[in-house]
Amino acid sequence: MIKHYTGIIEHYRGRLPVSLSTPVVSLGEGNTPLIELKNLPSLLQFDARILVKFEGLNPTGSFKDRGMTMAVTKALEAGSKAIICASTGNTSASAAAYAARAGIISFVLIPEGKIAFGKLSQAMMHGAVVIQIRGNFDDGMRLVQEVARDVPVTIVNSINPYRLQGQKTAAFEIIEELGDAPDFHALPVGNAGNITAHWIGYSEAAGLPTATAPADMPVSDKRVFSSRRPMMLGYQAAGSAPFMRGKMVENPDTVATAIRIGHPMSWNQAWIVREESSGWFGERTDEEILYVQKLLARHEGIFCEPASAASVAGVLRDITEGRIPPGATIVCTLTGHGLKDPDTAIAQSSRPVSVDASRDAIEAVIISNMS
Ligand code: F0G
Repeated sequence: MIKHYTGIIEHYRGRLPVSLSTPVVSLGEGNTPLIELKNLPSLLQFDARILVKFEGLNPTGSFKDRGMTMAVTKALEAGSKAIICASTGNTSASAAAYAARAGIISFVLIPEGKIAFGKLSQAMMHGAVVIQIRGNFDDGMRLVQEVARDVPVTIVNSINPYRLQGQKTAAFEIIEELGDAPDFHALPVGNAGNITAHWIGYSEAAGLPTATAPADMPVSDKRVFSSRRPMMLGYQAAGSAPFMRGKMVENPDTVATAIRIGHPMSWNQAWIVREESSGWFGERTDEEILYVQKLLARHEGIFCEPASAASVAGVLRDITEGRIPPGATIVCTLTGHGLKDPDTAIAQSSRPVSVDASRDAIEAVIISNMS
């Protein structure tokens, strides 16, 4: 029998802090494909199995939907009438969509001029109250926390612990598909919520303790279904790499606007993840990130947004430099869809050719491109 898939809460109900009376707000998020890279290993001559978890195929085009279904569901259960977030774009798009679905108001704070156009269009189209601030994400995050102390709005950034509960389900899906945890799991790191969420998921699946586990998250299903946890690798953009600097960065800058964050909210948790998993942080330049974004699009047919490519860019160099051993199985999360940021994609692609609407002209183009 084919079972209709209705999102991560229904699918992992026993592993999430929900009850039968919880009013589930879902858009069918999760269940994203885990795609093995087929062409890059021979093209770049490396010996590793890289699989990308394409989170850009969630309902609003990013991994945020896994967390947002939980955060909005729990907000609704608690009687909240409005949600608020600061965002580099994807959280705002997701919050706006899930608030629309739930019939509540969403307020989103975004850094003026620094979010990708697709994301802005989503927040606007779903009817969020979009507040552009003359400041960066870190300013927005601070303001959201200040405001939420005074007015009855629920914060749906990843400091909301239900967000991480939803996002941990990506680790469950990977284990189920591979039969066990991979050797390494690489993610782009901004606020460091997602790397923390994955670690919570991997730890729960393996029945192993972690200091990142939140207190008071009652779940009924604690069955163990993996034999181990992966080493966690967190990659940042060089201009926005507080984990590499070992301290907060005041004016972060990168073409990967999604991870343009200098003051990560899950700072402590991410260091614990690194420690407990024996993993590491790395940084890649904007040039490397865009180069790998294009490699994935051209040679694998996978179009992710720039920030997402940081995970694969990180891993490729660490394979070349021998930090990742030959033969390893590595999962890289591609956090968001390439359509989120059409401007960056078009800026680095060759222009379309313009010709007359004639058969000769078209044939001439085909012949010159095939010879
Ligand atoms: N990749 C993408 C595409 C993102 O949008 C984000 C975060 C990250 C990676 C980093 O994840 O913060 O959990 O370490 N975007 C947030 C937003 C900040 O507002 O959309 P993280």
